[in-house]
Parts: sequence; structure tokens; C-alpha cells
Amino acid sequence: MFHFLADPAERAEGTYEYFDDGLLVLADGVVAAAGDARALLPSLPTAATIVDYTGKLIVPGFVDTHVHYAQTDIIAAYGEQLLEWLERYTFSTERRFGDPAYAREVAEFFLAELLRNGTTTALVFATVHPESVSAFFTAAQARGLRMIAGKVMMDRNCPEFVRDTAHGSYEDSQALIDKWHGQDRLLYAVTPRFAPTSTERQLELAGRLLDEHPGVYLQSHLAENRGEVAWVAELYPWSRSYLDVYDHFGLVRERAVYAHCIHLDTPDRARMAETGAAMSFCPTSNLFLGSGLFDTDAARAHGIRVGLGTDVGAGTSFSMLRTLDEAYKVAQMGGHRLSPLSAFYLATLGSARSLYLDDRIGNFAPGKEADFVVLDLAATPLLERRMAHAGSLSERLFALMILGDDRCVLATHIMGKLAYARDVRDTR
Ligand code: GUN
Ligand code: ZN
Repeated sequence: MFHFLADPAERAEGTYEYFDDGLLVLADGVVAAAGDARALLPSLPTAATIVDYTGKLIVPGFVDTHVHYAQTDIIAAYGEQLLEWLERYTFSTERRFGDPAYAREVAEFFLAELLRNGTTTALVFATVHPESVSAFFTAAQARGLRMIAGKVMMDRNCPEFVRDTAHGSYEDSQALIDKWHGQDRLLYAVTPRFAPTSTERQLELAGRLLDEHPGVYLQSHLAENRGEVAWVAELYPWSRSYLDVYDHFGLVRERAVYAHCIHLDTPDRARMAETGAAMSFCPTSNLFLGSGLFDTDAARAHGIRVGLGTDVGAGTSFSMLRTLDEAYKVAQMGGHRLSPLSAFYLATLGSARSLYLDDRIGNFAPGKEADFVVLDLAATPLLERRMAHAGSLSERLFALMILGDDRCVLATHIMGKLAYARDVRDTR
């Protein structure tokens, strides 16, 4: 069993706990204790049920801080960079989510896929249609998941069939917040797609929604692609930078999560740190769309909250292990090093912290919601062979993040209950 207590970049000692023979004690869906099995076993009540995962690695569920459930069907779409990719693939597939039956079917597939990959919490874009949010939350609630999602706000520079209006998006978002935010484990995110597809009035109303509903999130995209950055400068000629547009409307704050954050300058990074806004690092997407290289060291040097995102459908995998593999390579291209400890922190407690959810999820501290993953470090012949040559925990974690994928996820538990098991065929 392995989990973090703090950011391994902040200090050398005491940032994680690893128990070779560990025991996770659960009661009513939350963690009661986590530690060495021999030490904890005598304290268990005689009626306790014990599940034996000997030889496997138990870690907290992965937290995906940026993903589009409605883009599941366009993952791996060929040939374009961001703005053309949106025009050619994205808007036409998102159009279909006006149909609640279709939205429901995709939401079910998407959530099953998250669990197959060991992801237990995500910050999720729906589409412009309020029905797409209700379909997603209904499916997430039925599975008992902690999920954050919101209706895309988009009132210009997009096809009419996925366009809303500033006032309509405000009213729809408000109704969805009233209906879903805080229901069971669900939370709402106000979701202006990105600055180019919103009028100033719509961004202003997004800010108003945040002011009127404390605790609600904000998710959007920021400085992903050079053409996009130039377009924002044209559309908002008064702005100092792309981030400044969002800042002007009160959207740079705690619980605001911006995907990509590649083409930023020092004042932008300082502002994100100072406000408590978070970045979602989406390496597979940034490489797939040729967007650029996220600067992990600059974010760390400024003390900005950073989480990891798959960004499916521009991202190319639901697996946070595959995403860490690409994150490592992106850091390498920038001359930086993403250590295996920093990587697994990023995928678990670091992402939870970026979402201000580290008091509920992200590690096995007593009282945390018991969402966890059982990893098989010998899931493939190559992994098994490489692990035999890996001495330290860090070496094993590194081999896991470079070579691992959904095949390594043996089981996923939600609030203590088994929600996915690799070796059990789904017979529904
Ligand atoms: N910027 C605006 N919309 C999108 C989107 O759907 N995906 C990505 N990667 N970037 C965006
Ligand atoms: Zn995105």
C-alpha cells in the first residue's frame, strides 16, 4: 500500500507511506486506518471482512482534472491542431448530446472506462446542452462517484447548433447548480469553453454565478495553442494577456481549473499562484494536437496548484499511467525531470489538492472517502520482467508509469465497494 501525506517536491522526508504488507481498514465507506497489516490486524473487530490483495499495490484512486466525456467518440481523430480540430471533429460530435438517450449511453461508457483505468474522480466538460450534464450526473450518482462537471457556455464563434446565449447559459447553469451541486458526491463547475467562444457578457455572467454560489468550480481552457492565443489578443484588445481576460471577469480564483497553461508569461504564473487557481497539465493532448510543452518546473517554482488531466478526446488515453508516461517525456523535452514520486503525487493527492478536495480524497488519511485502486505490477510479461530488475519503490513506480496502462488495474473500489474488477467479465 502506498500513498502521499505531502508533496514530495516540498521536502525530502515523510511525504509518503509505503507498507510492503499493508492493511487499509474501512468503515462505512471511509478510511478508518491505514498501516502495517501485522500492527493493525489485532485491532479489527472479529466480524470484519478481510479482502486479500497480497502481491498487489493499493493506491488512492486517480484524479483526472480535465476531461471531456462528450469527446469519447472522437478520441484519435486524425490530422489537425486545436482550432481546426474543434471545427472538424468536436462541435459535430458534441451536437449529438442534445439527445438525452445518446448522452446517457456515452456517460455510462465513459464512467466504466474511467473505473477500468483506476480513475475515481474527474473534472468533466459536458456539452452546451443542459441534458448532457443531467445525463452525466445521473450516471455518476448511480455509481456513487465523486465527480465535478458542468454545462459548456459558448455564445459566439461556433456553429449555431452548439451555441447558447449569455443569458440562457446563465439561467441553465443556475438551474443545474440548484439541481446537482452538493447532491451526494457531485459538484458543479461553471464551464465557459474558452475565451474565444464567449462574449464578454457571458464571461461576466460566469463570474456572477461563482459569486452567487460559493463552493462551485470554474473550468476552462487557457493558452493551449499559439493561434488561439493570437485570436484571444484580437478579440480582447484591452487585455494584457489571455489569463488577464479571465481575471478581468473574476474567473481566476480558488476552485478555478485551467487546462493546458502552456503559453504563459511570468506575471500570468505569479497571478495564478497568488489567486489559488489551478493548472491541469494534459501531456497526451498537448503532444497529440502539437500544442506545445507544459513547463512543469515554472509551475512548481511559482508554487501553483497543478493537477494531471487526460483531456480525452484531444488526449489519447483514459489511463493516468499512460498520461504520466507522456508527462515525463514532456518534462524531458523541457530539460526537466519528473520524478516517479512527483508523478504519482500529481496523479493522486496533487490533483486532489488542485481541486481543493484533498480533505476528502487523494490519500488514506483517516476519514478520507475510500476510493482506491489495486494495481498489478506484473500485468504484462514485460512489466513482470522489468519489475524483477527494479530494486527500490521509486524504480518500480517508474517502470509502472512508463510501461503500465489499464491492464495494471486489477480492481477499483468506490467508497470501499468493488466497482470494477479486471478479471471478472461484465455480464450485464
Ligand atoms: N479549447 C477549447 N475547447 C477545447 C476542447 O474541447 N479541447 C481542447 N483540448 N482544447 C479546447
Ligand atoms: Zn479540454
